[in-house]
Amino acid sequence: MKQIIVAIDGFSSCGKSTMAKQLAHEVGYIYVDTGAMYRAVSLFCYRNGWMNDESMDIYSIEKNIENIQLEFRINKNGTAEIFLNGENVEKEIRTLEISNGASRVSTIGAVRKELVRQQQKMGINKGIVMDGRDIGTVVFPKAELKIFLTATPEIRAQRRMDELLAKGEKVIYKDVLANVKERDERDQNRKESPLLQAEDAVVIDNSELTIEQQQILLRKLFDQRIGIA
Ligand code: DC
Repeated sequence: MKQIIVAIDGFSSCGKSTMAKQLAHEVGYIYVDTGAMYRAVSLFCYRNGWMNDESMDIYSIEKNIENIQLEFRINKNGTAEIFLNGENVEKEIRTLEISNGASRVSTIGAVRKELVRQQQKMGINKGIVMDGRDIGTVVFPKAELKIFLTATPEIRAQRRMDELLAKGEKVIYKDVLANVKERDERDQNRKESPLLQAEDAVVIDNSELTIEQQQILLRKLFDQRIGIA
């Protein structure tokens, strides 16, 4: 089977990882959640005191970014989990605080440069589904299939809240919606690689789609790109 790169970009909490993970599983590709990489950097910065809810020490972050080793390992359920300098941090990076921090560290040029370098290395042999904000525009501008996924902020906030509640976090809808909007604003307006739709991306608004409908659509596009549809 022809090996391609599938780049899935879009706003936070619109289901990019569900979509990417399922496709990768179906077609036997590697799945890379680049948001998890920015989240792990955020966690590392919080732990070292280079970041708190109000400010960040950009100088220290830039100086230490090359000491952050990120790696994905597959667990016994077949799911990729992120390791930060050898430690599994998959659970710790999923809180509201760390996700907000991820959006802030992702505005730093040196952080983006290092993570993009690591991501490009992961895709060297193709056969990869990668999701994020700049995959089709910066990381793999020549990706054979680019998707730009979107849904309304209200629907994304509801989905995010359900996820957090299921994990036992105490959150209220108003805060989650504000967080979604704040991250959208920052992701779209930062100077370094803002969230942009690649010209050749296929736009999918999944506000009114079930996961099954979305997956059928994606698989059709994938089959076309590898030349079997
Ligand atoms: O997809 P996510 O919510 O896990 O991503 C967390 C943050 O990381 C998000 O606010 C923006 C940033 N990010 C980025 O700037 N570029 C990427 N390729 C992936 C994520």
